[in-house]
Amino acid sequence: MMDGFVLFGDIVHTAPDSGLSLHGHSHLVVESGRCAGVFPILPERFRGLPIENCAGLIVPGFADLHLHAPQHRNLGLGLDMELLDWLNTITFPTEAHFSDEDFAAAEYEKFSAALRRSATTRACVFATIHGDATLQLMRLLEQSGLFTFVGKVNMDRNSPAFYVEDSASKSLRATERWLDAADSFTHCRPILTPRFVPSCSDELLSGLGRLARERKLPLQSHLSENLREIAWVKKLCPDSSSYTGVYEAFGLLGERSIMAHCVHLSGREIDIIHDTGTFAAHCPTSNINVRSGAAPVRRYLDAGLNIGLGSDISGGHTLDLFEVMRAAIDVSKLRWRLVDDSLPALTAADAFALATRRGGAFFGKVGAFDAGYEADILVVDDRRYVNSEDSLSQRFERMVHLARAEDVAHKYVAGVRIF
Ligand code: GUN
Ligand code: FE
Repeated sequence: MMDGFVLFGDIVHTAPDSGLSLHGHSHLVVESGRCAGVFPILPERFRGLPIENCAGLIVPGFADLHLHAPQHRNLGLGLDMELLDWLNTITFPTEAHFSDEDFAAAEYEKFSAALRRSATTRACVFATIHGDATLQLMRLLEQSGLFTFVGKVNMDRNSPAFYVEDSASKSLRATERWLDAADSFTHCRPILTPRFVPSCSDELLSGLGRLARERKLPLQSHLSENLREIAWVKKLCPDSSSYTGVYEAFGLLGERSIMAHCVHLSGREIDIIHDTGTFAAHCPTSNINVRSGAAPVRRYLDAGLNIGLGSDISGGHTLDLFEVMRAAIDVSKLRWRLVDDSLPALTAADAFALATRRGGAFFGKVGAFDAGYEADILVVDDRRYVNSEDSLSQRFERMVHLARAEDVAHKYVAGVRIF
């Protein structure tokens, strides 16, 4: 007996050329956790598999390339500030509380439950500087069934006395201890997480570059989010060609690295991100809330960057990637109107591609229904907002503009049903 199943219904995903691929009344075949393909008529060889009829739209699961688990507690707070004031007033005091393991366990329980119930199937998550609390988060996410990368944060300078590591060497030793303990997880894997250049010394960044190479680890950080932050980096690193150049010099860029934001990159920096294959995480809700700016996503797509979406909670106010998709479209429309009308705004299909195929690529063959792709699937109940005369393409458009995470009726990760 084959290990698999078939979902029958109206299927939408992003094609390899980034165009929209619409399949009304079709079969999505899943075998051993992977997609075997989408078929209007079920091929003979799959006829023994159980078939489920799905109302609504069948789409790939969403990848959240950037979020902060401890900040789940702060959703919606402090968003009248810009980045650096928001970090000092709201974020660092909350993250410091995670030294208390009971507090951390309770908060991370709430976060993990919310992420599990969301439209997200894959995520890259910042924890705090505390190794034990980070392991607690990893245990909970491992149980959630989602595929995640989680990082113990590194910070050894320019941080408040109540939330900083004593030295680069202590930060690196704590990171190695955490990595050794994190080795038993399968779905939740470690990712090196220097917070950003202002809070990491050269010695720390260089040690993390060495660890990344020695242990073949992925890495995540923040890059070029806010103008005051960028000016600060220039002051801290006068010999570097750019903010991106600092990460490049320490060997922190590459196809397994994610840089969140990338709002204000120069042409030369875009070239570095492109040539190293580094992923950019576009976080439009956060960019609006803390007024960082409007990242030129169309330019990045035209330049061939690897790019996906991040909820960046709690700079972003929601884990719901449907909302983040819409914010990406909205920001690009305002950017077109107010900043540069030579760069077309993002379409619904562009935003959907960012949330699925493009962001999913960080995790391997993830984010689409091509044969061989891991079967991350959402069944989105659209009865709340569709019209009975809608074409499939109109139902897709309405989903992008109107759906909420609560509309996800079923979610599968690598072929396993989560709810
Ligand atoms: N830069 C450094 N730390 C943070 C953070 O926690 N959130 C955001 N949005 N930017 C940062
Ligand atoms: Fe962030």
